[in-house]
Amino acid sequence: MRTAVYPGSFDPLTNGHLDIIRRGTRLFDRLLVAILENEGKSPLFTVAERKELIARCVADIPGVEVPSFSGLLVDFMRRVDATAVVRGIRAVSDYEYELQMALMNREISPGVETIFMLPAVEYTYVSSRLVKEVFRLGGDVARLVPPVVLESLKQRLPVTAAT
Ligand code: PNS
Repeated sequence: MRTAVYPGSFDPLTNGHLDIIRRGTRLFDRLLVAILENEGKSPLFTVAERKELIARCVADIPGVEVPSFSGLLVDFMRRVDATAVVRGIRAVSDYEYELQMALMNREISPGVETIFMLPAVEYTYVSSRLVKEVFRLGGDVARLVPPVVLESLKQRLPVTAAT
């Protein structure tokens, strides 16, 4: 049984994340989409809300679980018996940060491997931060997030009209 963790903030889940989740489940028997509990980032959605949104979006994908965690990722991985971290890389600009994290995780837990996966080309520019910004300013993000996420954005964020 091969277990991997796909960790992140997922505030909110995008179609890019979902694409990586689908790809990850082809490589691993069990994929834990692990939400970092980090209130310091002042997220738009609470951990419980993000958990519910993700769970609804992955309901049709076998082998996916949606836990949350605090503290070191590698400690969480030990608790859930995971051997690999899955991370999506969109552009070269992601690589430096991801390289640092992967090597740091390996330094503090030598058995941990990081698997970098490429999302579908049409999502290579999509980030949760930009989705929130564009939506807030009245842009159409319907193609970039799952429908339940779009609904939650509509309920949560007031759209600021141009002046
Ligand atoms: O989606 P994000 O915010 O880029 O994800 C970052 C995340 C959650 C993968 C990273 O911040 C993390 O693993 N945090 C847990 C604390 C930890 O282990 N830090 C050392 C990582 S080298």
